[in-house]
Amino acid sequence: MTLTLRTRTVLIAALVIVGIGLASSSSARPIEQIRKTGTLVVATEGQFAPFNYFEGAKLTGFEIDIAEALAAKMGLKVEWKTFGFDALLTGLQQDRWDMVIASHGITEERAKAVTFADPHYCSGGVIVAKTDAIRSAKDLAGKVVAVQTGTTYLDNVKKVPGLKDVKNFPQDNNARAALMTGRVDAWVVDKFVAKAALQTDPKSGLKIGDFLFIERIAPAVAKGNTGLAQALSQALAAILADGSYAKISQRWFKEDIRCK
Ligand code: ARG
Repeated sequence: MTLTLRTRTVLIAALVIVGIGLASSSSARPIEQIRKTGTLVVATEGQFAPFNYFEGAKLTGFEIDIAEALAAKMGLKVEWKTFGFDALLTGLQQDRWDMVIASHGITEERAKAVTFADPHYCSGGVIVAKTDAIRSAKDLAGKVVAVQTGTTYLDNVKKVPGLKDVKNFPQDNNARAALMTGRVDAWVVDKFVAKAALQTDPKSGLKIGDFLFIERIAPAVAKGNTGLAQALSQALAAILADGSYAKISQRWFKEDIRCK
């Protein structure tokens, strides 16, 4: 078959346009489709007590309860998946799950790759050490600090002037263990994670110092899945208003950790 140059040009242009369309159209499940199946597929890490962790074989924590409450408001059940922290946001882009809830702080960088719903709590990274002499950013000069890989703790610790070294670990538990065994001078982690660690192990001698930074923590969905993000934000507004958020927060923290 012989085609005129013009026809060929038009055909190629059409193919290119279809190709771009396929590449950029997100395969993420829209809320309508999720509603049809009745199940929201949610991924978390399961290694970040008291937010998401395992008690024996049972996945539990503040974020598990919050996600269950959000889903219930949306008339959905949750199907849980647990994966390494660094796989969670990329899994959204690959459409492996509908939502991630794993204490992700909203950052400009992450917002380029995913869409955040409204924040489900506000907190920040604190400096934890085994001595009162290391409490604030200036005390970190010349010190070695442990953080979990891929976190805002790492980003913010890197900015501290005069630091000797930052050691990063695939799991936050390993960063804490590094401090416990004296391999590092400090650990930077969420304030509530630090408090829970101290509560679980009162003899650990951990001293919780100042906030290094504060952040807004939110569930994430695939970039551009705004229908789902909006439905989640609406469900959050509903549980904030009807007292169920307050109840869950009191249960885990004896205080209300909503963003004010
Ligand atoms: N809030 C920090 C961040 O945004 C740490 C989150 C760590 N979460 C976890 N499930 N280990 O990066």
